Order: sequence, then structure tokens, then C-alpha cells
Amino acid sequence: MKKPVIAIDGPAASGKSTIAKALAARLNIPYINTGNLYRAVAWFALKKGIVEDDLNDAGLKPILDVMSLTYIVGDSGYQICVNGEFPGKALRNPEITALASPISAIPSVREWLISLQRNFADSGMIVMEGRDIGTVIFPEARYKFFLTASPEERAHRRLNQGGETVDGATVESVAIEIAERDQRDSTREVAPLKQADDAIFVDSSGLSIEQVVDFILDKIRSHFSQYRVPYADTDQMGVVYYANYLEYFERSRTEMLRDAGLPYRELEKEGFFLPVSEVNCRYFSSAHYDDLLIFKSIVSEIRGPRLVITTEVFCGEKLLVRGVVTLACVNKAGRPCRIPDILTQACPVIP
Ligand code: DC
Repeated sequence: MKKPVIAIDGPAASGKSTIAKALAARLNIPYINTGNLYRAVAWFALKKGIVEDDLNDAGLKPILDVMSLTYIVGDSGYQICVNGEFPGKALRNPEITALASPISAIPSVREWLISLQRNFADSGMIVMEGRDIGTVIFPEARYKFFLTASPEERAHRRLNQGGETVDGATVESVAIEIAERDQRDSTREVAPLKQADDAIFVDSSGLSIEQVVDFILDKIRSHFSQYRVPYADTDQMGVVYYANYLEYFERSRTEMLRDAGLPYRELEKEGFFLPVSEVNCRYFSSAHYDDLLIFKSIVSEIRGPRLVITTEVFCGEKLLVRGVVTLACVNKAGRPCRIPDILTQACPVIP
């Protein structure tokens, strides 16, 4: 079964954090920056007086043995807590930035952080960014993106961002530092930075944050199904008879749930039934015999027992119909009940 994770991997300064944060805000789900976990280990190691010769499994062992790393949820989102302390902004210091990369190449450090990272997906859909989320941590993540940008753009972004660069840094010096880090992150033996085979490549050069987030949301939405219109679906005018759209919406919804690893039958077996309580349909253009229709369905609202699924029907690029179907969840006794967590976890709400 797919994991409820939107994985965003990519090299340093590719805009992952900004995009992951904006995406999580749009979807109203949590966001985890896994680079901060490696930075936290670097921060603690530095505090414990680590020296270059200790940058190996044996050298890190006494540090990991006494280190406890947790996430505390507060008003300003998640905060990393290391042995009762909050390193906060210190995690972005140039010193920590430089040390996090060799630290992250040490196998025992990666091993140590694996279960912590996997536990994040236990309570619903999350956005997680890093280097190996789609390849090692969650190879079965529901959505995977590999984000990058041109070396110049990344150097500019890092410099404008401030904090992580040393005083007097220039675009050239930052570009060299980023290239070195890329080289180290992608050639290390354990979990090197690389695009997962099934990840969608996104080059964000020259694009605004909004544009990248919209692109990603569109990909998340476009879990679509296709259907060729048979003659029997058309009326005397040769266009698809309106009542057939209800069946199309059902078909698309069933396929969306099946793709999410949650077949309709499974929900019924768990004792949840989803009868339709309302349908709104808006027609923009008509479909004809033999047209290849593309259906894009998303969960657009979950509130209490209400589940709203929006299905858009396209022919090529042309939007033909938008259907908004409200389902009311009921239990075996026929009483309204909350939409079950298994469903919320499988399908992100895309408003
Ligand atoms: O994304 P960042 O710059 O905060 O990451 C800090 C370091 O941690 C970076 O050099 C690569 C490493 N890292 C990793 O190896 N795997 C991850 N999932 C995230 C970060």
C-alpha cells in the first residue's frame, strides 16, 4: 500500500523547503524538513566537541548513544528538540551547514534517523523534503517529486536567503560550495542524492513559488482515468447524454480510491458506506461518440461525515464538465459518521 507522503527530494538550495512549506500550507497538512535532522546531529556533535577524525561510524557512536531527537509541535509549527534543547535557527549556521553534509554520509547516522522519519507518516498525509525520501525512506510514497534549479539560480537563492553563507560570500563562491555539497551528497555510498525512477522532475529555474506549487498540485490532481465514449452513451443530438455523467463520476471516484490503495469494497468491509447526497454539475462543452474523455478526480473537502469529490472531465486540454459530488458517510446502522482516517490518510484534500 502506498504511503501518505508527498516526497520532495533535490539538491541543496533547489527551493525544496520553500516549496514544501507552501505546498503543505495549501493542503493544510504537516511538513517535515529532513535536512534539519542531519543538521541537528551535526549541531549536537559539534557541541560534544567532534573533530574531523571522528567523522565515521565509530566516532559518531558515543554521540548517537546519548542523543535524543524529538519534534515538538507548537504554534509556529514543528520544532526540533535535542536532549531537551531547541537549536532553532542555529541549525542554519554556515558551520552546521558545512558539517551536516559529511555527517549525513555516515551510515550509522542515516540508520539512526530512518525509523524517526518513517514514523512521521503514521498519522496522515505529510509533505517531506530531503535527499532520499522517495528512494530510501518512502520508496512507496504516494507522490514523488525531484526538484532542482540551475546552479546560478540556486547560488542566488542561497545568497539572498542569508544566514547559511559566510560573510563576504559571492554568487561564485556560493555556487562552488553548493557544487561541492551536491557532489558529496550524490556520490556517497549510502542513500546518495538521486531522482527516484518514478519521481516527477521539476526544474524551478525562472518559476515563482506559486507556479511550482501549482505545477505540483496539478500533478497530484492528475491521477486520472480515461474512457472512450460508446455510441450508447450519446443522445439523438450525438452528444453524451447528461445522465451518463453521474456514472462517469462514480467510475472516476472508484478508480481514484483504488489508486490511493483504498478500494471502495475495502471501505465497505470496514463498515463505512458513502451514499451520494448531492451532485452539482456544470457543463462547459459537449462530448461526442468516440471522444476520449479524461477524468481528474480529487477530494476537495472533508468535514465530519461529508466528503466532497470534484471531478473534471476533459477532452484533450478542453474542460467539458465539472461535477461536484457530495457523499455522506454512514455506518452499518445507517447513521452518519465521521469520514474514517484511512480515507483522509489516503487522499489529500485539495481545496
Ligand atoms: O537540505 P539541507 O541543506 O538542510 O540538508 C543538510 C544536509 O543533510 C545536506 O548536506 C544533505 C543531508 N541530507 C541528507 O543526506 N538526506 C536528507 N534526507 C536530507 C538532508
